[in-house]
Amino acid sequence: MPLHRWFLFLLSVTVSPSLIAEEFTVKSPDNDIEVVVDVSQDSTSYRVNYKGSPLIRTSQLGFDIRDQALLSKNFEVVSLDREAIRQQWNTVWGEREVVLDYYNELSLGLQESTPDQRRLNLTVRVYDDGLGFRYTFPEQEALKDFIIDAELTEFAFAQNYQAWWIPAYRNQRYEYQYLRSAVSSIDVAHTPLTLEGDGVAVAVHEAALVDYASMTLRNIDDNQKVFKADLVPWANGVRVYASAPMSTPWRTIQIADRAVDLMNSDLLLNLNEPNKLGDVSDYVKPGKYMGIWWEMHTGLANWSPGPDQGATTQRAKEYIDFAAKHDIDGVLVEGWNKGWEGEWWKREPTFLFDEPVDGFDIEEVSDYAQQKGLRLIGHHETAAGISHYESQMERAFAYYQKLGITSVKMGYVGTRLEHGKEWHHGQYMVRHFQKVVATAAKYGVMVNAHETIKDTGLRRTYPNLMTRESVRGMEYNGGSPDTGNMPNHTVLFPFTRGLAGPTDFTPGVFKFDYQEHRPYNRVPTTLAKQLSLYVTIYSPLQMAADLPEHYEGHAAFQFIDDVPTDWQQSIALDGEVGEYMVVARQDRHSSDWYVGAATNELARQYDLVTDFLESGADYRVELYSDGENAHWRDNPMDFRISQMNIQAGDTIQLDMKAGGGAALRFVKVIK
Ligand code: NOJ
Ligand code: CA
Repeated sequence: MPLHRWFLFLLSVTVSPSLIAEEFTVKSPDNDIEVVVDVSQDSTSYRVNYKGSPLIRTSQLGFDIRDQALLSKNFEVVSLDREAIRQQWNTVWGEREVVLDYYNELSLGLQESTPDQRRLNLTVRVYDDGLGFRYTFPEQEALKDFIIDAELTEFAFAQNYQAWWIPAYRNQRYEYQYLRSAVSSIDVAHTPLTLEGDGVAVAVHEAALVDYASMTLRNIDDNQKVFKADLVPWANGVRVYASAPMSTPWRTIQIADRAVDLMNSDLLLNLNEPNKLGDVSDYVKPGKYMGIWWEMHTGLANWSPGPDQGATTQRAKEYIDFAAKHDIDGVLVEGWNKGWEGEWWKREPTFLFDEPVDGFDIEEVSDYAQQKGLRLIGHHETAAGISHYESQMERAFAYYQKLGITSVKMGYVGTRLEHGKEWHHGQYMVRHFQKVVATAAKYGVMVNAHETIKDTGLRRTYPNLMTRESVRGMEYNGGSPDTGNMPNHTVLFPFTRGLAGPTDFTPGVFKFDYQEHRPYNRVPTTLAKQLSLYVTIYSPLQMAADLPEHYEGHAAFQFIDDVPTDWQQSIALDGEVGEYMVVARQDRHSSDWYVGAATNELARQYDLVTDFLESGADYRVELYSDGENAHWRDNPMDFRISQMNIQAGDTIQLDMKAGGGAALRFVKVIK
């Protein structure tokens, strides 16, 4: 991977401990973002200004380490480094091929002036689209193996911004609909936490969560809007087991004028390490998949063996036959292995990961798929039994390799891991999931994980880590007793959860009447909106979630056939959180462009200005839009397909009905 380093400015100063400078400032390359670190005797803190106005007021830094004094004050600055980096790198796959990595960095080496003389480094990187800072514990006697009881990092918001958030420490993990409130009304929230107000949009999250607890944000002062990093603990109360040398994840603050621009930020990827897996092109391939899945969620079939068993050789072949006629690369079969009897989510896990259930001949199905030019996709549902799974994990991945399976979907259904003990978001899970990704890479397998730890950009370092759910997905519209998602959900989570990375939401439902088994559930959408989600929601693996018989002969399936999952460039053009969004993306392997536009429960007209297309070029446009009488509640199937010729820059009027949307393909006309 070529790394172009255009300009590098480096200043390294070792200062004598007696020379304590109090404030250190570092700014973004465009000067709009300013971070000030204040090292004074009784505290260490930072603050952030954006375009001259405060965004984060003085906020504490440091740690509470078990059986030691607080590591947060009496610091002397013993070294100071500044760097100005202007470079770019190429993605293996993603929203764009080339990522610009422009930032200014400040690194401070801190040492206590007290007898302990413990050392802690603080690194701050400021980009045009936000900033990240992290702590590094250098190797030292006092911090060989230690326990972090609390991270003292604060975020003291300058205003009572409007927040979009989901609560942390709840049983359904990240699978909640987003709440909108003043930031001061939050109790404790997961990140990304998205805020808006006074001409600025902000998202607080983290990057490169490798061996640490995930950070939630706890409100510790309503009036002052002060939030503190609340690290998800182990069952025994420990937040993090650590040993120096080590670095924490980056604490990230993405900043833009409009919320929609947060979706164009590459901050998280830039703060992760480059690819450590080398050339993965033999098995890492973005693409589309289908599978024996939605029929379970809508009650037509069952994971459990027996008369309603979804996973049969015959049914899998039906999916493969359909997929082979279309541009679908893989077929998932849930319930293919032993251990799914009855209410599998309520008991100790009984899954065997290398034994097919009666009625499903995995070798025959896998061979059949490969003969037809596609692949079977593996499935590892753990029911949150981590040690049960880990004891079979190596064997399970070797088994897939033998069968030519290069992609696995994972699941961690359960309110806590390990017999109801551990949270899904503590260091325990972070460590486990790293093992999964490494083992999968060893056996040449891509990972798509559900109910796992949130994304923090690790796909850059481990490009077999393709996508994850970690959101309230389509499945809730199928079988959830609470009757599913609200129409605004799909135009809300891309502004929050979506900032963390790819989302396996599983769009593409074409038949909305499954009342026989699920009388109270429906997908709150029109058909055209389902198509738009292939562009508005980013994932390198996208599911066509519905059944082959619901797609067969349906003209709208052509869009799913055509739409790619790997992009040359992506531009979030317009939108308001929870109201609507418009995204344009260019195929990585052709000059075609795609646009998705989606709305909440309100109908809206949108003038799409096509100035993202190649200037001077002509395009044939295929437009999939809501029919005249479409409505998500009463008339979701009403849609139309039209074609037109345009010149780059022309405006196309999109007419989105309630709960609807539009999907467009632009094919360049060769003159
Ligand atoms: C939860 C996943 O999110 C869902 O897609 C899957 O069908 C079930 N687990 C069963 O593994
Ligand atoms: Ca789920």
